Amino acid sequence: MKILVIHGPNLNLLGRREPGIYGTDTLAEIDAELVAYGKEKGIDLRTAQDNSEGAIIDLIHEAMTWADGIIINPAAYTHYSYAIYDALRASGLPSVEVHLSAIHRREKFRAHSVIAPACLEQIAGHGKRSYFIAIDVLYRYLNGD
Ligand code: DQA
Repeated sequence: MKILVIHGPNLNLLGRREPGIYGTDTLAEIDAELVAYGKEKGIDLRTAQDNSEGAIIDLIHEAMTWADGIIINPAAYTHYSYAIYDALRASGLPSVEVHLSAIHRREKFRAHSVIAPACLEQIAGHGKRSYFIAIDVLYRYLNGD
């Protein structure tokens, strides 16, 4: 099983970026934990981060050639990127949307995700644990249960 985890804009600043909201772990630390967790489950899990919409769309297109599923934290693009929504739909890959913070309990603009309808589930508000929950969801889905 092969899974791509995509982190969107500003998530490269994790650890320093509003730690009260996003936690103190760096993205490199989280990625290492995700890869290790995947390994335990026999998943070849790869991670990528990009700050631009087009590059994220390219990652989704490339994933069509090798991945079985996608986990994506589209960050601020969550709230307005129809292009990322379209790319996920076009890929046909099962996808899970992730957020560290509880987007439904923050500013009004964060409550709405244009990406969610392209995903199996949206996992939000559990800090870095949101990503681990997403791995479990996708793993079960890909195993057919
Ligand atoms: C986020 C929530 C978004 O609203 C925000 O723009 C982010 C991070 C999260 O993980 O909580 O950059 O996706």
